[in-house]
Amino acid sequence: MAELDALGRRHTVIHCGPEHLEAIRGIYNHEILHTTALYEYEPRSSETMAAWWAAKQAAGLPVLGIEAGPGVLAAFATWGPFRAFPAYQYSVEHSVYVDARFRRHGFGRMLLSALVEEATAGNLHMMVGVIDATNTASIGLHRQRGFAHCGTVCEAGFKFGRWLDVEFWQLLLPPATPLYTRGSSKPLR
Ligand SMILES: CC(C)(COP(=O)(O)OP(=O)(O)OC[C@H]1O[C@@H](n2cnc3c(N)ncnc32)[C@H](O)[C@@H]1OP(=O)(O)O)[C@@H](O)C(=O)NCCC(=O)NCCS
Repeated sequence: MAELDALGRRHTVIHCGPEHLEAIRGIYNHEILHTTALYEYEPRSSETMAAWWAAKQAAGLPVLGIEAGPGVLAAFATWGPFRAFPAYQYSVEHSVYVDARFRRHGFGRMLLSALVEEATAGNLHMMVGVIDATNTASIGLHRQRGFAHCGTVCEAGFKFGRWLDVEFWQLLLPPATPLYTRGSSKPLR
């Protein structure tokens, strides 16, 4: 579905393809090298990103994007498992990244809303963003979209010579189909 950005231009949320991988790598690596948005030290190689893409495809995880022009990826968003244990099956940890050249155009808001729609349609129940406590842009984005701050883990990371606090921002989704089957008190597991 097409939506208007902050400048009134029309944009559509797309499913990314392998042709977007280098742009995704560029966006990630800018954040890894210059910010605490990612708790990583080394830029990702093309091989690392190819493995990342293969894992997303194998698990059926969405990689949504917005192009600023034909073939120019401005932003992407994805999710992965929150924790790798079976009972977390209805929870995901998501992330949204906008190329620094295209911030404050509404792309982050569009992609986060698209992720919420996709998660709801997929019968997920809980989305959580794990956000560095100094990341005011991401915290503002999540607050605006209705996510709630549900905890802070102090000094969980270390980067650029200092300790980093990490905040958890969650949204509970109404199940698209009931988790309890009719006539049974047993949850789907
Ligand atoms: C966080 C990020 C995704 C926001 O994307 P964006 O496209 O620039 O944001 P939008 O234009 O859609 O803004 C939506 C809302 O987010 C909030 N927001 C965005 N940037 C903000 C900033 N710099 N400071 C405070 N609030 C901000 C505002 O509430 C904004 O609504 P408004 O424009 O009506 O005030 C973007 O800054 C980014 O990619 N940052 C680096 C990567 C990152 O930190 N990702 C999140 C990892 S958890």
